[in-house]
Amino acid sequence: MPRIFSGIQPSGELHIGNWLGAVQNWVTLQESYECIYCVVDLHAVTGKYDQATLAERTREMAIGLLASGVDPERAVLFVQSHVPEHSELQWLLNTITPIGELERMTQFKDKAQRFESVPAGLLNYPVLMAADILLYRADLVPVGDDQTQHLELTREIARKWNAEFGGGEEWFPEPKPLLTEAKRIMGLDGQSKMSKSLGNTIGLLDSPEEIWQKLRPAVTDPARVTKRDPGTPELCNIYHLHRYFSPPETVALVAENCRGARWGCLDCKRVLADNMIATLAPIRARALELRAQPGRVDQILGDGAAAARRIAGETMREVRERMGFLEAATHDSRLTTHD
Ligand code: TYM
Repeated sequence: MPRIFSGIQPSGELHIGNWLGAVQNWVTLQESYECIYCVVDLHAVTGKYDQATLAERTREMAIGLLASGVDPERAVLFVQSHVPEHSELQWLLNTITPIGELERMTQFKDKAQRFESVPAGLLNYPVLMAADILLYRADLVPVGDDQTQHLELTREIARKWNAEFGGGEEWFPEPKPLLTEAKRIMGLDGQSKMSKSLGNTIGLLDSPEEIWQKLRPAVTDPARVTKRDPGTPELCNIYHLHRYFSPPETVALVAENCRGARWGCLDCKRVLADNMIATLAPIRARALELRAQPGRVDQILGDGAAAARRIAGETMREVRERMGFLEAATHDSRLTTHD
């Protein structure tokens, strides 16, 4: 059975862009594949971050994923730093990854501008991502559009490693991205991709009031200044969001009323808010239940890390052998006593 791996950073809230672009797909794929999902906390420390809240945000991300339908009976869910093999494989892959390839990554170029002195971790971020995927020898990776360049690099790294150490085999499969129709959800500013770092998101677990407060000022078709101006739904991000939260007949009605200047943007947003609130209500209810049981969530993550380590340990044994490392002798306690 093909194996799926994907990850999400706990660097902010789980937002509807993550959900529509990736997490909904994670849930569907559990039906037909062996799935491994990871909260990538090591990735989340590549920029400035708040160490006082990292642990809580990591658990909160796991809660969001479980509430969305990631099922620990059918998929492995774990935290990246609980499986140290990720860092080990990353180091080994670093040794075969050209710096030039890392420097041309779009996300690196964007994010590097935010630093006076760019941390090496930001440059090497995609190598850790390659390690995440290759450690489980995954075949398919459900992600949004913004990660496809990193996946292309992962395939290149796999190819290079296979050529040097694979002994003529494609020992690491070259993983392929799985995209959805919602592969690039725009933010509420209507200008950039919905993103935790841009503050243009709607949280998957936001309350009905928060959803409305965020949608109300959201940018629409810029040509529509007053309610009497006919709009072009295709140019409006709110219309695009309707397609994911409203039934088809409502989507058609929205388009008609926008073109005919019968509804103002606020009318259209109110309908979207109601449908979004109704769609997300069961997820929010499950998350509230899980928040009340942090011990249970930590146990799920503990079991997940144990399952992940079984696979990761196996991969690393082979990788070390194929790369020529001296095998560690089994520890003999008689040699370490000082009597
Ligand atoms: P992250 O945490 O930024 O996002 C998690 C997932 O959500 C998708 N996504 C979006 N999809 C559609 N529209 C958007 N506006 C949007 N914003 C985010 C992302 O594409 C991603 O699938 N580097 C990764 C995490 C990672 C990873 C991995 C992913 C680490 N290791 C291994 C796959 C495999 C990231 O920062 O995703």
